[in-house]
Amino acid sequence: MDSQLEALLNRLLEAERAGHQLLDAMGQETSDSEVSALLVNFTDVEVSDTAILEGLIRLHGGTPSTETGDFADKVLRLSSLADQINLLSQGQAWVARKVEQVLALNPPPDIAAFLKEMANRHRHNMEWARAEAIKLSVATDLPGRHQR
Ligand SMILES: [Fe+2]
Repeated sequence: MDSQLEALLNRLLEAERAGHQLLDAMGQETSDSEVSALLVNFTDVEVSDTAILEGLIRLHGGTPSTETGDFADKVLRLSSLADQINLLSQGQAWVARKVEQVLALNPPPDIAAFLKEMANRHRHNMEWARAEAIKLSVATDLPGRHQR
């Protein structure tokens, strides 16, 4: 496997692992049932992403990284849920951009197909998270009103 391709795929793998760790932690922290249900949906997808990325790297002769990115720490350091979800949205955008970098290297077709599908899901989640962050910040801005 091309070393540049392997390095980028491993960055994605480490980021997905961090994403999973983060969503787990956030899901346990939030008391908002709507938010926690959506986070669980995110988490299910992240788990299969890491397994498929590992498999594709191995299939094409590379070595999957065993590291986890530092994204979870960065997000969990923020004190408000709105800020956390906002950064989560930016993380989804980062994944979509990173996928474009990989596609520019003309990866094998099975890798390209999986990454395109993965990027689409992350773009969708990016929009959802951004909308959710806006809802949460509006709810906390309104004095005396805690309903969303
Ligand atoms: Fe992800």
